[in-house]
Amino acid sequence: MADRLEVRFMQCGRASVIIRAPHCSKGTRLKAPIPPRLQGERIVLRGFTRADRNALFALFSDTRVTRYWSHHAWTEIAQAQRYLNGIARGWRDGSLQQWAIADLQTDQAIGSLTFYDIVPAHARAGIGYALQPDHWGKGLAAEAVDLALRHAFDSLGWMRIEADTDPDNAASIRLLERVGFQREGIARERYRLDMGELGQTQDSLLLGLLKRDFVPRGLDASGC
Ligand SMILES: CC(C)(COP(=O)(O)OP(=O)(O)OC[C@H]1O[C@@H](n2cnc3c(N)ncnc32)[C@H](O)[C@@H]1OP(=O)(O)O)[C@@H](O)C(=O)NCCC(=O)NCCS
Repeated sequence: MADRLEVRFMQCGRASVIIRAPHCSKGTRLKAPIPPRLQGERIVLRGFTRADRNALFALFSDTRVTRYWSHHAWTEIAQAQRYLNGIARGWRDGSLQQWAIADLQTDQAIGSLTFYDIVPAHARAGIGYALQPDHWGKGLAAEAVDLALRHAFDSLGWMRIEADTDPDNAASIRLLERVGFQREGIARERYRLDMGELGQTQDSLLLGLLKRDFVPRGLDASGC
């Protein structure tokens, strides 16, 4: 008889895995890695909770957010729930580290930041992020990326972070280059957005950041 696995979201946003052995009615509780809380001046990166489901749906059902994203805008709240389940799984199996970008004062989730394609053997991962449009243009995404990169290089010991973005996504490219990412090439027709007759595809601009090239906030050339 297989052990039973349950994933539960705790109020603090941490997924915990409960493994119940067949001969042990109480079970042994094994905790998944706890998403560290990374606090900035105006935002905090914290684990997602079930309570963030509506905020997550609002984020990825907004066509302004998904304009350069690799999937179409969500249409059903169930997609947000499945996504939350995937985030919990990612923390548990080490394939993904994803935080809510939350307002420091209200704790309201206003965006998402992800390390994906994590390869510990090569000390690298990919980074992705999205913010609700009401909050664009205030430097909050830059603050979130800065917090995550400091964590990646200083705490996790990673040496290289990769990003891929639509070549027309000026805000994202500006954000990445500001912290030291360099353009490393164009991957043609990397995403297939429309499987119909039109066969709409999207190229990717690939960027990479080495630990030694990282420009933390406050240390950039402009001094701001
Ligand atoms: C990418 C995104 C997170 C940027 O959010 P933001 O709130 O505008 O980011 P910031 O305010 O921190 O600004 C980052 C930089 O981009 C610049 N910028 C913002 N919008 C811009 C635009 N439309 N064109 C050019 N530069 C822009 C800002 O001026 C800033 O540069 P600066 O530091 O030199 O002033 C946001 O546009 C978003 O969520 N987009 C949808 C999801 C997405 O495309 N994610 C990236 C996938 S790779």
